[in-house]
Amino acid sequence: MSDRTGIYQVFHGTFIHSTSPGSIEIVHDGMLVVGPDGRIVHFLHNIPVEETRTALDGLNILAGEYRISVISRDKINPGFMIPGFVDTHNHAPQWAQRGLGRGLQILEWLDTVTFPNEAKFEDKDYARKVYESCINGSIKQGITTSCYYGSLHGEATKILADICLAKGQRAFIGKCNMDKNSPAYYTDASAEESLRVTEDFISHVRSRDPTFSQITPIITPRFAISCTRELLKGLGKIAAENAGLPIQTHFNEAESEIAATLTLFPEFDNEADLYAHFGLLTNRSVLAHCCHMTPYEMERLKALDCGVAHCPIANTTVGGGFMAAPIREFLRRDIKVGLGTDSGGGFSSSILDAMRQAFIVSNAREMMTKGEDKSLSLEECFYLATLGGARVCGIEQESGNFAIGKLFDALHVQMASVDGDKLNLASTGIEAGDGMKTVFEKFMMTADDRNIVNVYVRGNIIHSS
Ligand code: GUN
Ligand code: FE
Repeated sequence: MSDRTGIYQVFHGTFIHSTSPGSIEIVHDGMLVVGPDGRIVHFLHNIPVEETRTALDGLNILAGEYRISVISRDKINPGFMIPGFVDTHNHAPQWAQRGLGRGLQILEWLDTVTFPNEAKFEDKDYARKVYESCINGSIKQGITTSCYYGSLHGEATKILADICLAKGQRAFIGKCNMDKNSPAYYTDASAEESLRVTEDFISHVRSRDPTFSQITPIITPRFAISCTRELLKGLGKIAAENAGLPIQTHFNEAESEIAATLTLFPEFDNEADLYAHFGLLTNRSVLAHCCHMTPYEMERLKALDCGVAHCPIANTTVGGGFMAAPIREFLRRDIKVGLGTDSGGGFSSSILDAMRQAFIVSNAREMMTKGEDKSLSLEECFYLATLGGARVCGIEQESGNFAIGKLFDALHVQMASVDGDKLNLASTGIEAGDGMKTVFEKFMMTADDRNIVNVYVRGNIIHSS
């Protein structure tokens, strides 16, 4: 998948990235240099395009050692670069069931739509077909890092890891653990068997990517309702014994789910204490939803440095969290938050759609809280989709923005004007004379995958349209 030839790649044009939750930086006439190892080695601002070669001489990068790409400077159809999107919560086997089961509560939706669908992944050919389509679809949306739940099948989950590795997407992938309260046709035979398959999957990933530089196994108890104490304990132990592997689960998603959880685990008052007891809350935990949160649980998440995967589309369709997820409060408390498509509970695999829904839901929440939780700005939504997500996944030293030393995970975005002369792009309504701030706003609110023309991971193009 590499298009690099051991030389430096130089990108010239406009760059937009987050530097903190509330602020984006727009760099005009930026010159960003990516080394042969895919890392950003220089990022100069205000270099006129005609001076690119002179600037490279000044950096001691010699002719023949570099290739220059100029991002479109067309005032009518402007282009720019942004960091790749991070999807902190996605179910790869639910790709074909996106949008199904509206109107069902989460536990009904699992029983009637999701479990019968996921059970099909026992068939490896079926798994290969759906996972190819899912990963292509995710990459096309500009998702350079994704956290995937697999099905409970070890072999299908290995196929998922192999496909991601071949296609170049960075991914956290977990065999889904569930040995209780699941239908007989779709359940782990025992806690012991579930743990064995998990360890076998970790070994498989290690054999393909020994340093987990692109694919990292992630411990994935579906949620406490579907796990025995023995299984939860064993999974906490595997995470700890493997140099602190990341962990993902569903957390405080819906009131019905919380009530069922506490009935099954009466020794705990809340989910934070439950998961922490089994060693499943660490600084590498990615907790999906976190809709119904008490101050006590937020304090615990902050103290344990867990991350939140905010899934605003699923929360307003199947999740039952609705407007409850206190994202403003998480940001106030500096709890790590990113965005998840939660596809297929979420009907869309687009992070642009998730950003827009996060924005809409936050407006509703501002009303609900009588102004106390101010709505999210577009800059904050963009942060959640990029740097915020990278923090949740524990890769903020490697990805999430254009800081020097990070890997070049980026998207080349191309906007189309009202004149509509670029038929392959979605028209984002750009008018001559729009400033970059306006272009950014139009991108956030009107663009789709057609505007994402190149996707880079570690400096390699993994998708072009
Ligand atoms: N809780 C347990 N499993 C699931 C799932 O697949 N999707 C969602 N949204 N919540 C869950
Ligand atoms: Fe989910």
